[in-house]
This record gives sequence, C-alpha cells and structure tokens, in this order.
Amino acid sequence: MTVSHDLPRLAVVTGASSGIGRAAAQRLAADGFHVLAGVRKQPDGERIAAPGIEPVILDVTDEDDIAALVTRVSDDPEGRVLGVLVNNAGVAVNAPIEVLSLADWRFQFDVSVFGQVAMVRALMPALLAARGRVVNVTSVGGRVAMANFGAYSAAKFAMEAMTDSLRREVEPFGVSVVKVTPGAVSTNLTDSGLAEAARITDRMTREQHERYDELGRAFAAQAEGFARDGVTPEHAAAVISKAVSARRPKTRYTIGRDGAMFTFMPRIVSDRMLDTMLRRQNTSLAKTRR
Ligand SMILES: NC(=O)c1ccc[n+]([C@@H]2O[C@H](COP(=O)([O-])OP(=O)(O)OC[C@H]3O[C@@H](n4cnc5c(N)ncnc54)[C@H](OP(=O)(O)O)[C@@H]3O)[C@@H](O)[C@H]2O)c1
Repeated sequence: MTVSHDLPRLAVVTGASSGIGRAAAQRLAADGFHVLAGVRKQPDGERIAAPGIEPVILDVTDEDDIAALVTRVSDDPEGRVLGVLVNNAGVAVNAPIEVLSLADWRFQFDVSVFGQVAMVRALMPALLAARGRVVNVTSVGGRVAMANFGAYSAAKFAMEAMTDSLRREVEPFGVSVVKVTPGAVSTNLTDSGLAEAARITDRMTREQHERYDELGRAFAAQAEGFARDGVTPEHAAAVISKAVSARRPKTRYTIGRDGAMFTFMPRIVSDRMLDTMLRRQNTSLAKTRR
C-alpha cells in the first residue's frame, strides 16, 4: 500500500465528550488533523462536531464500536492515513481495597486498561502502515499509588507497563509510543469520581466506616483541590499536541507541576518516606473537612 504523508492525517481521540479528550480533539483539529472524536452519546457528538472534528460513537469496551471505527479509518473518503491514536478515555473508581468489589475492579480495568489495549490492537495495522503514533494518557496515579486509589492506580500502572512494552515492540517499525502523564486537571473526573466513591462507600460496614472515614474526607478534600487548583483541559491539550507533533518525541510528557513531581518522586524517595508523606498529607486534608 502506498501511503501519502502530504495529506492531513486522521487523529483518533477516545473520550472526547469532555475534559482533556474534548480539548485535545479541538486542539488537534486546530493543528490540522481530521479528528475522529470518540463519544458514547449522540448529543455529545453533536456538541463537539466542528470543522475538522467528526464525532464517532465509541465505547472502548464495545467491540462493534471499535470495528466500525477501524472501517471508518481504513475507508477514509479522502485517503487520509492515521497519524495518531490518543488513548484518553478513563474512569476513576476510588475506595479502599477492602471495600472495592471485584466488579468495581473489573469496571475500572475494562475501561482504563482493556479498552486501551483493544484500541491499540484494532488500530495497529493502520498505524504501522502510516508510521503513526500512539499517545497514551496515563496519570500520576500510575507512578504513585495513594491510599483509596488502589484500583485506579493499578489500572494506570498497567497502562504504564503496556505503553513501555508497546514502545519497545513497535518503534523499530516506525510507530512511536508516548505517555502523557497529567497531575491535577480541572475536569468532570472529580465529580464523577466522587459520585462513584459515594456509591461504593455506601455499602461499607460500621467497622469499615470507623477505619476509612478519615481517608474518605481526605479524598473528598483532595478531589476538590484537584478541581480548584488543576490546570485547564486546554493546557493539557497543548501538552498532548506537543507529544503528537514532536519530530523525535520523548517517551513521556508530564502535565502540571504535580505531574512532573509525582513522576519523578518514586525514583528518589523510599517507600517508607512516601508512606509518611502521604499519611501526613491525608491527615491534614481530612482536618479541612471536619
Ligand atoms: N483530570 C485529572 O486530574 C486527571 C489526572 C490524571 C489523569 N487523568 C486521565 O485523563 C483522562 C481523561 O480524563 P478527564 O480528566 O478528561 O475526565 P472526564 O472529563 O471525565 O473524561 C473522561 C472521558 O472518558 C470517557 N469514557 C468513560 N468511559 C468510557 C468508555 N467505556 N468508552 C469510551 N469513553 C469513555 C468519558 O465519556 P462519557 O462522557 O460518555 O462518560 C469522557 O469523555 C483519563 O484517562 C484520566 O484517567 C485525568
């Protein structure tokens, strides 16, 4: 197959209905990509549709949606090739390990790990043909696993490993693989994460409440801080744009000062020191919610 590198390229962005994904779709369209913006609901598609942004119904856990996207990419009416897959979709299922059910874990992993793997597998032939790029949106949670973030962090650690392996497998064949690691970004994830946490902690026993209520208060205060102090989705999208367009991309781009700090910290701080720092942080956060 002959591939033209002169045409504008396609970009697939998952989870483009809101937050980082929405801003990334808009930014990549402004950069000249024709963006296939993955949304789960028709009205979200109508909201994001714009010149250079074509909504596609895409639940990353739905094989039929993914198959339809593969066909859309390979049958592009203008012969454009796939320049980049931005694996951004994600959910946050946060509660203490003792309280999380296996169904909670499976939901977290279905979206944030297996969904990303399914996207990579489905679009790899097109990416190989076009010498395209994979940009995986990870998290500081994939570098440091805080209390209450077990399932979310485990999924993001898994994504870290998957991304490292993938990079080492396909870069020799011209597909670059990049991580974008956000710290706090002001998005819906805070509210949806708090709602999900409330749903889960509703079923805690009295003893579990005694053990974990302080942690829950720290989590709520931290989530509010994320929403209040986080960088904007547009800031995050500018970093994604850099990761997408750099001629020789770095393996990782961090977003925000906390993104950089938490990425670096586990290399220089011992587990025990980190335990102490995080415990102190939680104690003082919980006090703000008494
Ligand atoms: N915000 C932060 O502080 C932060 C920090 C570190 C990492 N991240 C990562 O950044 C990414 C984007 O999150 P965000 O902060 O922008 O949150 P967000 O505004 O809640 O966006 C999450 C997106 O994922 C989509 N999604 C959820 N389940 C899906 C599924 N099964 N299939 C396809 N799409 C699905 C959502 O679609 P619906 O609207 O249909 O639910 C939404 O578009 C996530 O991977 C998250 O882990 C965020």
